[in-house]
Amino acid sequence: MLSWEWQTLLEDLYKRSYIIVGAFALSILIALGVTSTKNMMRRLGKQWSQLHRLVYVAAVLAVIHFLWLVKSDYTEPLIYGAVLTTLLLLRTNLFSLNKQ
Ligand code: HEM
Repeated sequence: MLSWEWQTLLEDLYKRSYIIVGAFALSILIALGVTSTKNMMRRLGKQWSQLHRLVYVAAVLAVIHFLWLVKSDYTEPLIYGAVLTTLLLLRTNLFSLNKQ
Protein backbone atom coordinates (compact mmCIF):
# COMPACT_ATOMS: atom_id res chain seq x y z
CA MET A 1 0.00 0.00 0.00
CA LEU A 2 2.66 2.44 1.10
CA SER A 3 4.92 1.39 -1.78
CA TRP A 4 2.06 2.09 -4.19
CA GLU A 5 1.73 5.60 -2.78
CA TRP A 6 5.46 6.13 -3.11
CA GLN A 7 5.22 5.11 -6.74
CA THR A 8 2.32 7.52 -7.33
CA LEU A 9 4.27 10.27 -5.65
CA LEU A 10 7.35 9.58 -7.78
CA GLU A 11 5.26 9.39 -10.95
CA ASP A 12 3.62 12.67 -10.01
CA LEU A 13 6.96 14.35 -9.42
CA TYR A 14 8.22 12.96 -12.73
CA LYS A 15 5.19 14.38 -14.55
CA ARG A 16 5.60 17.68 -12.75
CA SER A 17 9.38 17.96 -12.84
CA TYR A 18 9.04 21.72 -12.37
CA ILE A 19 8.31 20.95 -8.71
CA ILE A 20 11.79 19.44 -8.32
CA VAL A 21 13.31 22.55 -9.91
CA GLY A 22 11.29 24.76 -7.52
CA ALA A 23 12.30 22.63 -4.53
CA PHE A 24 15.94 22.92 -5.58
CA ALA A 25 15.68 26.71 -5.85
CA LEU A 26 13.98 26.84 -2.45
CA SER A 27 16.71 24.68 -0.87
CA ILE A 28 19.34 27.11 -2.15
CA LEU A 29 17.39 30.10 -0.82
CA ILE A 30 17.02 28.44 2.59
CA ALA A 31 20.77 27.67 2.69
CA LEU A 32 21.54 31.30 1.81
CA GLY A 33 19.00 32.53 4.36
CA VAL A 34 20.42 30.56 7.28
CA THR A 35 23.98 31.64 6.40
CA SER A 36 23.11 35.32 6.29
CA THR A 37 23.47 36.11 9.98
CA LYS A 38 26.51 38.16 11.05
CA ASN A 39 27.78 35.16 12.99
CA MET A 40 27.55 32.79 10.02
CA MET A 41 29.13 35.37 7.71
CA ARG A 42 32.08 35.67 10.09
CA ARG A 43 32.39 31.90 10.46
CA LEU A 44 32.33 31.21 6.73
CA GLY A 45 34.70 34.04 5.79
CA LYS A 46 35.72 33.77 2.14
CA GLN A 47 33.50 30.74 1.63
CA TRP A 48 30.49 32.95 2.32
CA SER A 49 30.82 34.79 -1.00
CA GLN A 50 31.43 31.54 -2.85
CA LEU A 51 28.33 29.96 -1.32
CA HIS A 52 26.21 33.03 -1.95
CA ARG A 53 27.01 32.96 -5.67
CA LEU A 54 24.40 30.20 -5.68
CA VAL A 55 21.84 33.00 -5.69
CA TYR A 56 22.39 33.20 -9.46
CA VAL A 57 21.61 29.50 -9.78
CA ALA A 58 18.47 29.93 -7.63
CA ALA A 59 17.26 32.82 -9.80
CA VAL A 60 17.75 30.86 -13.03
CA LEU A 61 16.04 27.79 -11.52
CA ALA A 62 13.07 29.92 -10.41
CA VAL A 63 12.58 31.22 -13.96
CA ILE A 64 12.89 27.67 -15.38
CA HIS A 65 10.37 26.50 -12.74
CA PHE A 66 7.88 29.14 -13.83
CA LEU A 67 8.46 28.64 -17.59
CA TRP A 68 8.01 24.90 -17.13
CA LEU A 69 4.75 25.01 -15.18
CA VAL A 70 3.01 27.47 -17.50
CA LYS A 71 0.65 25.80 -19.95
CA SER A 72 -0.26 28.45 -22.51
CA ASP A 73 0.58 32.10 -21.80
CA TYR A 74 4.34 32.46 -21.42
CA THR A 75 4.25 36.26 -21.06
CA GLU A 76 4.86 36.49 -17.30
CA PRO A 77 7.72 33.98 -16.99
CA LEU A 78 9.32 35.51 -20.10
CA ILE A 79 9.20 38.95 -18.45
CA TYR A 80 10.94 37.50 -15.38
CA GLY A 81 13.44 35.81 -17.68
CA ALA A 82 14.14 39.10 -19.49
CA VAL A 83 14.58 40.99 -16.20
CA LEU A 84 16.94 38.29 -14.90
CA THR A 85 18.93 38.21 -18.16
CA THR A 86 19.31 42.01 -18.00
CA LEU A 87 20.48 41.88 -14.38
CA LEU A 88 22.93 39.05 -15.08
CA LEU A 89 24.33 40.91 -18.10
CA LEU A 90 24.74 44.07 -16.00
CA ARG A 91 26.57 41.96 -13.41
CA THR A 92 29.19 41.05 -16.02
CA ASN A 93 31.70 43.62 -17.24
CA LEU A 94 30.26 43.60 -20.76
CA PHE A 95 28.92 47.15 -20.50
CA SER A 96 31.86 48.53 -18.54
CA LEU A 97 29.48 49.86 -15.89
CA ASN A 98 31.83 48.80 -13.11
CA LYS A 99 34.66 51.18 -14.08
CA GLN A 100 36.35 52.71 -11.09
C1 HEM B 1 9.52 23.17 -2.79
C2 HEM B 1 9.53 24.23 -3.57
C3 HEM B 1 8.47 24.56 -4.57
C4 HEM B 1 7.37 23.85 -4.97
C5 HEM B 1 6.92 22.48 -4.52
C6 HEM B 1 6.67 24.67 -5.93
C7 HEM B 1 5.52 24.32 -6.58
C8 HEM B 1 4.75 25.15 -7.36
C9 HEM B 1 3.43 24.84 -7.87
C10 HEM B 1 2.70 23.53 -7.64
C11 HEM B 1 3.01 25.92 -8.56
C12 HEM B 1 1.66 26.11 -9.23
C13 HEM B 1 1.56 25.36 -10.51
C14 HEM B 1 0.18 25.50 -11.11
O1 HEM B 1 -0.43 26.58 -11.02
O2 HEM B 1 -0.27 24.51 -11.67
C15 HEM B 1 4.06 26.92 -8.49
C16 HEM B 1 3.98 28.16 -9.07
C17 HEM B 1 4.98 29.10 -9.03
N1 HEM B 1 6.17 29.01 -8.35
FE1 HEM B 1 6.77 27.43 -7.28
N2 HEM B 1 7.34 25.87 -6.10
C18 HEM B 1 8.45 25.84 -5.28
C19 HEM B 1 9.41 26.82 -5.14
C20 HEM B 1 9.40 28.02 -5.81
C21 HEM B 1 10.44 29.05 -5.69
C22 HEM B 1 11.67 28.93 -4.80
C23 HEM B 1 10.06 30.08 -6.50
C24 HEM B 1 10.71 31.41 -6.75
C25 HEM B 1 11.83 31.81 -6.16
C26 HEM B 1 8.80 29.71 -7.13
C27 HEM B 1 8.11 30.50 -8.05
C28 HEM B 1 6.87 30.18 -8.57
C29 HEM B 1 6.10 31.05 -9.44
C30 HEM B 1 6.52 32.45 -9.91
C31 HEM B 1 4.93 30.37 -9.73
C32 HEM B 1 3.79 30.86 -10.63
C33 HEM B 1 2.77 31.59 -9.79
C34 HEM B 1 1.61 32.03 -10.67
O3 HEM B 1 0.95 31.15 -11.22
O4 HEM B 1 1.41 33.23 -10.77
N3 HEM B 1 8.44 28.46 -6.68
N4 HEM B 1 5.10 26.44 -7.76
